[in-house]
Amino acid sequence: MSTLTRIATAAAVAAGLTLGLGAVGAQAAGGGEGPGLKRPYWSFEGVFGGYDEQQLRRGWEVYAQVCKSCHVLDYMHYRNLEQIGFTEDEVKEIAASFEVEDGPDEWGEMFMRPATPMDEFAKPYENDAIAKLANGGVVPPNLSVMARARDGGADYIYSLMLGYRDEVPEWVLEHDPNFELPAGKSFNAYFPGYAISMPQQLFEGILEYPDGTEPSAEQMAHDVTAFLQWAAEPELEDRKALGRYVLVFLLVLTALLYAYKREIWKDAH
Ligand code: HEC
Repeated sequence: MSTLTRIATAAAVAAGLTLGLGAVGAQAAGGGEGPGLKRPYWSFEGVFGGYDEQQLRRGWEVYAQVCKSCHVLDYMHYRNLEQIGFTEDEVKEIAASFEVEDGPDEWGEMFMRPATPMDEFAKPYENDAIAKLANGGVVPPNLSVMARARDGGADYIYSLMLGYRDEVPEWVLEHDPNFELPAGKSFNAYFPGYAISMPQQLFEGILEYPDGTEPSAEQMAHDVTAFLQWAAEPELEDRKALGRYVLVFLLVLTALLYAYKREIWKDAH
């Protein structure tokens, strides 16, 4: 092989590895004494993975009806919802159903008005102090980067939503006989330390999906997690498309260089 061919081959292999790594990284997390993370199928995994818009719209439904009352989604604007298949008019209507603070008006007062597509998602609490008061001393974190911020990513969020237990399980007590759930906390098998300030949120049938999908806890956890993954990485599909393009380009380049090399050396043998 000529040096050029070797470089091209190495580059192609490297590109292939990089594309594959996303999936491997997601597998590496978890651990602890408890159950391993649940690993459902995600449409956005793998080199050819992409978002399922219908699922993202269901996920928005869960976020808007359940999570939004406590969690902010920083950087998100209502117009971003057009990216997951809502029409301009639908987005206007969705935005108008929320109130955001504006002002000051001519008398120097802040006032509330219906949101427009250009507004950021409305915030659930006026400030952190109030958020803390309402949630046992803990501010519910911003969810817009959560899927990237936690080990295990989507698998972690999905597992967390479904990880509540009414009683402290045996495997915790075996490991730590003195484990006691502090007052006001819930037991969650996937939360570090198991005691979480967020009560269980997803129960079968708490909402109705406009597309008629059965709202089981698993379904809602899956949909809202996909939605949060999209919020954290809306450009994922572009990135993957570019990666595939680079890969094909390198493979073609390798083949061409190889053919070229054989052509040049054919009479020398
Ligand atoms: C009643 C308020 C409330 C609602 C509603 C709520 N959460 Fe939370 N959430 C919290 C609080 C408080 C925390 C911080 C928990 C802690 O640190 O103990 C939290 C933490 C989280 C975390 C981070 C866990 C971690 O590893 O730090 C995720 C993810 C999360 N919530 C997702 C959701 C999703 C998805 C929904 C909607 C289905 C939702 N939450 C609805 C209050 C809420």
